[in-house]
Amino acid sequence: MARFYITTPIYYVNDAPHVGHAYTTVVADALARWHRLAGDDVLFLTGTDEHGQKVAEAAARHGTTPQDWTDQTSTRFHDAWDALNVDYDDFIRTTELRHLETVQRFLGTIYENGYIYKGLYRGLYCVSCEDYYTLEASDQGRCPVHGKPLTEMEEENWFFRLSAFEERLRDYYDQHPEFVTPETKRNEAYAFIAGGLKDISITRTSIDWGIPVPWDPPHVFYVWYDALINYLTAIGYGREDSAVATWWPASHHLIGKEIIRFHCVWWPAMCMAAGLEPPHHVQVHGWLLVGGQKLSKTMAAEGAVRLTDIAPVTLIEEFGVDPLRYYLLRETALGNDGEFSYEGIVQRYNVDLANNLGNLLARVVRVVETKCAGVAPAPSAAAELREQAAEAVARARDAWERFAPHAALEATWSLIGATNAFLERHAPWKMEPGAAVEAVLGEALEVLRIVAILVSPAMPGVADEIWRRLGLAGSPGDGGLAGLAWGGTPGGVRLEGGAPLFPRIVSPS
Ligand code: MSP
Repeated sequence: MARFYITTPIYYVNDAPHVGHAYTTVVADALARWHRLAGDDVLFLTGTDEHGQKVAEAAARHGTTPQDWTDQTSTRFHDAWDALNVDYDDFIRTTELRHLETVQRFLGTIYENGYIYKGLYRGLYCVSCEDYYTLEASDQGRCPVHGKPLTEMEEENWFFRLSAFEERLRDYYDQHPEFVTPETKRNEAYAFIAGGLKDISITRTSIDWGIPVPWDPPHVFYVWYDALINYLTAIGYGREDSAVATWWPASHHLIGKEIIRFHCVWWPAMCMAAGLEPPHHVQVHGWLLVGGQKLSKTMAAEGAVRLTDIAPVTLIEEFGVDPLRYYLLRETALGNDGEFSYEGIVQRYNVDLANNLGNLLARVVRVVETKCAGVAPAPSAAAELREQAAEAVARARDAWERFAPHAALEATWSLIGATNAFLERHAPWKMEPGAAVEAVLGEALEVLRIVAILVSPAMPGVADEIWRRLGLAGSPGDGGLAGLAWGGTPGGVRLEGGAPLFPRIVSPS
C-alpha cells in the first residue's frame, strides 16, 4: 500500500485563522481525502506554531501569559478546521511535551554530529517575519515584507553549519528533480543554494519563550528551527523509531511561497545533518490576494479590507462549507497567486454549482420521478457518455496525483457540462415512458454517481448528499477508485427529491 504523509505549515498563534490559512489547509485536506479514496495509507498533519517573539508579544499585548494565549488561539484553529470539515489525523502544538522531546533529540544529534557551534550574531531582525535581514536585503533598514523598522540585535548564539551542505543540497536537487514543485519555485529554491549559503543562528537568549537547548539551557531554539521539526515529532522521532520508518521520507509538505527558504533549503540540510533523508516533496502554493473588489456585506460590516481580516467562518455562513472549499480549490492553479473576491465566489457558486451540478441533479431526479415513477434505471453498457466519463476520470485522477485540484475539478465539470448537453439533446422530459427514456436517464444517473465520487475530496458533504439522493447505499468513498468504473449504478432504487443543492445567490447590487 502506498504511503502518503501530507503536512500543512503550522500556523502562528499570534493571530486568528483567516482565509489564507484556510486555503492551505483545505488544499491539504482535499489531497489527503483523494489519497484515502485511492486506498493509500494517509497521515494528514496540521497544527500550530506557538513559540517565538511574535507570539510572546501578542500574549503581552493581551495581558496574558504565552501559554494561556497559545491555548486560547490554538483552539480557534481547531474550531476553524472543524467548521471547514478538515479531516486531519493529527493536530500538533509545538508547546506539547512530545515536541520538546523530539526537538531536543533531533538537534542533539546534529550537535553531536558536529554541525552546531557557538558564535556571535549581529543582524537586523523583523519580529513579524521572525527572521533576520542583512542591510542589503532590507528596504533601507525596514523589513522588505512588513515595511516596519528592523531592530538591531547582537547575541551570542549557537549556529547551524548550513554552509557545509551547499554541495550536498545541489546534488540532492539534481538527483530529485521533483523535490520542489512547481518548477518555478524549484528554480527559486535552487537559486538560493547556488547563491551561496551562510551559517544560521539557531538559538536565542533574548527571549525565553522557546524550547531550551539541552546542552546550554539559558538558550532557547529560534522558533523556525523548532517549528520545522514538527513534521518529525508527529511521527514519533526520538520516541518511536518504527513509526518514523513507516512515514519518513514519504512526506509531502504543502507550503506558501513565502516560506520556501526554510522548507527547501534549511529543512533538507537539517535532515542531512541529523543523518536522515530529506523529505520527499515540497509543494509550494501562491498567495490569495484581495484586489479592489467589493467584499460581501457581512465582511464589510466587520470592517474587513484585507484577506487576513476575513475569518473563514464568515464565508461559511454566507456560502456554505463546500462551496467555499470548491472555490478555494477550483479558482487558482496550485502554485500561482490567486485573486480572492466576493464576485468570484458568487460567480463560481452560481455558474458551476447552481447552474451545472445542482441543475443536473435536480432535473434528472425530477424526470425520473415523472417518467420512471421515481425508480432509477440502470445504465446500459453501450452508453453514449461512457467514453467521456472514462476520459474525465482519467484526467481527474492524473490531476489529483500531480497536486492539481483545480484541474481535477475542471475535468469533473467538463463531464457535468457534457451530461447537461446530452440531456438537452435527448430532452427526456419530452419522451414517453419506456426503454428509450430509461436509457437516457440511466446514463445521466451513472454520471452523477461518478461525479459524486470525483467531487468527494473537494466537497465531502455535497458528495454524500448526492449519493443519498441517488438512493445509493453507504458513502461515495466506499468502493475506492474502483467505484469510478462505468456501470456501478444498481438501478431499481428509489431516488430522493429535495430542495435545490445550491439555491442561486442573488448578488447585492
Ligand atoms: N509558522 C510558520 C510556518 C512554520 S511551518 C514549519 C508560518 N505561519 S503563518 O501562520 O504565518 O503562515 C502559514 C501559512 O499560511 C503560509 O505558509 C501560507 O501557506 C498560508 N497563508 C498565509 N497568508 C496567505 C495568503 N494570503 N494566501 C495564501 N496562503 C496564505 O509561516
